[in-house]
Amino acid sequence: MPALVLLGAQWGDEGKGKATDLLGGSVDYVVRYQGGNNAGHTVVVGDQKYALHLLPSGILSPGCTPVIGNGVVVDPSVLLSELSGLNERGVDTSKLLLSGNAHIITPYNVTVDKVTERFLGKRKIGTTGRGIGPTYADKINRVGIRVQDLYDESILTQKVEAALDIKNQILTKLYNRRAMAVDQAVEELLGYADKLAPYVADTVLVINQALEEDKVVLFEGGQGTLLDIDHGTYPFVTSSNPTAGGACTGAGVGPTKISRVIGILKAYTTRVGAGPFPTELFDEDGEALRRIGGERGVTTGRDRRCGWFDAVIARYATRVNGLTDFFLTKLDVLTGWEQIPVCVAYEIDGKRVEELPYSQTDFHHAKPVYEMLPGWSEDISKAKSFTDLPKNAQAYVKALEEMSGAPISAIGVGPGRDETIEINSFL
Ligand code: GDP
Ligand code: IMO
Ligand code: MG
Repeated sequence: MPALVLLGAQWGDEGKGKATDLLGGSVDYVVRYQGGNNAGHTVVVGDQKYALHLLPSGILSPGCTPVIGNGVVVDPSVLLSELSGLNERGVDTSKLLLSGNAHIITPYNVTVDKVTERFLGKRKIGTTGRGIGPTYADKINRVGIRVQDLYDESILTQKVEAALDIKNQILTKLYNRRAMAVDQAVEELLGYADKLAPYVADTVLVINQALEEDKVVLFEGGQGTLLDIDHGTYPFVTSSNPTAGGACTGAGVGPTKISRVIGILKAYTTRVGAGPFPTELFDEDGEALRRIGGERGVTTGRDRRCGWFDAVIARYATRVNGLTDFFLTKLDVLTGWEQIPVCVAYEIDGKRVEELPYSQTDFHHAKPVYEMLPGWSEDISKAKSFTDLPKNAQAYVKALEEMSGAPISAIGVGPGRDETIEINSFL
């Protein structure tokens, strides 16, 4: 029962889409277990580039069944337009399975997300504005709408009424906005029912049966460890659990079934939106990482904040996810620096700290302690094996592996499927 989890080890955008697509050819199912269309996963196949938001990156591998699990929040209009966009490009999406228990991002939750951010002013989180937080809040408050509710108009109407009851009070009295009409929301939601019907399934049963039949299942995380609602830099986080445990709840599989947990790790660090980021650069090095790495958001088009590699965070990701492997991405972006600083510890109020502090205040005060590693200038994008890499690039990878606490089993040297060095097989 080979079940693998593949997740972001930093603040998202580590290259999960590429890594998932790479494995997609050898796995039977790829399952998204949390998040929604706040994710933007780029996959490059030959000269074709795909930006996936809700669909699992396995959708581009013909033999693979893509699954949207119960833990995902689904904006039906985004899902349908993503599907038709792929169909127009000749991708067969008919195998997709969508959990009847997944929660729906309603139009009013997109509004609430945007209005709340505006209300927060300079304290805003910098969300993607896709309704993610309010939809998970409805789920926890037990006023959420699930995919299965689209197939019972009376229940759907009652649930929308319950959800809008309090929301309309908040929208009108606190935010000074117009109330949202129940019948309009219901009508819009019912309009998606028939179009989604072919995909709706009991995905928990399907996945567990697949595992019993020794099929290979890959769970693809959105976002990243430091954006996790429990383990991330709260409150500057997303509203779900991208960490490994999220795969169990978000797909309905027991932890005993998971055989491998792969952390996708960028050779430097990026972050989108607000929140602490100890190794962030505000100089020309940061600008160069952004330019060379193409660090611009796939979902919102925002420039990503860039900084050096942070080993404290990588160690933390190893711990909270029980990582068995790392997939190091974008090593090629670091080509050309004479020396590459790597953050090995923090200095917090004059004291050296080796591990991520649990206190938010301490983390906000954390200053990176850097070790300088020698750089390389050779083009590494054609490297096929570890030994093809220049000695200093090899040493950089080995140093990161040593500091991060799990073996680096693959290295990305470019965005394409082939631009990968495999060290240990994942399957
Ligand atoms: P995700 O959200 O984790 O899937 O990552 P994104 O797709 O948002 O951002 C990663 C970006 O880096 C995408 O544009 C990828 O095509 C690109 N990418 C992934 N791996 C590599 C790599 O090893 N080298 C380079 N140069 N680009 C990469
Ligand atoms: P992928 O899957 C990077 C960030 C947002 C914001 C915070 C909360 O492509 O790695 P939300 O809309 O989720 O309530 O926003 O989380 N964020 C991401 N940052 N990559 C992502 O996804 C992200 N999804 C959300 O920028 O700071
Ligand atoms: Mg992304």
